Amino acid sequence: MENLRFDGKDLFIIDQTLLPNDEKWVKIDTCESAYNAIKTLMVRGAPAIGIFAGYCMAIFSNGNDIYKLKKFLDSSRPTAVNLALATQRIVDAYENQKSLIDEAIAIHNEDIEMCRKISEYGLSLLNDGDGILTHCNAGELATSRYGTGLGPLILGKEKGYTFHVYCDETRPLLQGARLTSYELEKAGIDTTLICDNMAGYMMQQGKINAVLVGCDRVAANGDVANKIGTSSVAVLADYYNIPFYVLGPHSTVDFNCKSGNDIVIEMRDGDEIKKKYFEKPTALECTKCLNPAFDVTDNKLITAIITDKGIIKQPYSKTLKEILK
Ligand code: MRU
Repeated sequence: MENLRFDGKDLFIIDQTLLPNDEKWVKIDTCESAYNAIKTLMVRGAPAIGIFAGYCMAIFSNGNDIYKLKKFLDSSRPTAVNLALATQRIVDAYENQKSLIDEAIAIHNEDIEMCRKISEYGLSLLNDGDGILTHCNAGELATSRYGTGLGPLILGKEKGYTFHVYCDETRPLLQGARLTSYELEKAGIDTTLICDNMAGYMMQQGKINAVLVGCDRVAANGDVANKIGTSSVAVLADYYNIPFYVLGPHSTVDFNCKSGNDIVIEMRDGDEIKKKYFEKPTALECTKCLNPAFDVTDNKLITAIITDKGIIKQPYSKTLKEILK
């Protein structure tokens, strides 16, 4: 499932805010529309934002100050590591007088390769017939191909595995309901949508054999920033003794962050909680809303971090450095 098309000249994205009801492709033709597309989640998911930003830097740096452009795009969403990494790669290419568009295409192709490897490692931990819980969307819409959190399921389907997937709807922006269930249905995978606060019940009922989620930034000690609500799922999985797997490219590990406390959490407009996707507001205009887009899962709750470089387990402070540095 494609989320972005570059035809050699123009860049188009599928507007993810309109899915699953409308599949509308939008041309991105200015720096401002690029910023807006990331900010409003028309393009979202950590790797997909990085890929998109790479193309935008390559296309829109012509006639613009590339350093200012990087700063501008980086400021759209702070938590995921991929955005600033991708824009930096284009700046490096510029300083080394390399083709910027070739660099953007390389970022895109590398992500396809990394997702494939992550999916293979992830699949090696699953069994045919498993019940899987997912949170948010870490599939092809959030990446390039296969996905990270959903990658083992899409690859497994291709190889003839049967999975029963339960998708948390993922309040308040409903990436699980609108995007994950849509992607999995399209892939022909048995999918059931549940309310976020149903995860514990499904685990208690013995329906879940593993939890698979993507990641936005991994600290050096293995704490992980992920979509808001993920840490609660991890606590439940720990209680019910169910493996909790975090999947993402090795570049998601940020050794500059010692622990999750160092990760900047994006705060979004509180109105998204009570107004977005509802016909009428669900709370009074005067009711305060707190809307962090991500939370941090303590490394003690994570069974393994699955990267394109392999399956990494505790003690993360040692193993992440050994395998990835
Ligand atoms: O706010 P979003 O929709 O960009 O958040 C996405 C997630 O949290 C994903 O799970 C994460 O970026 C990993 S994407 C493979």
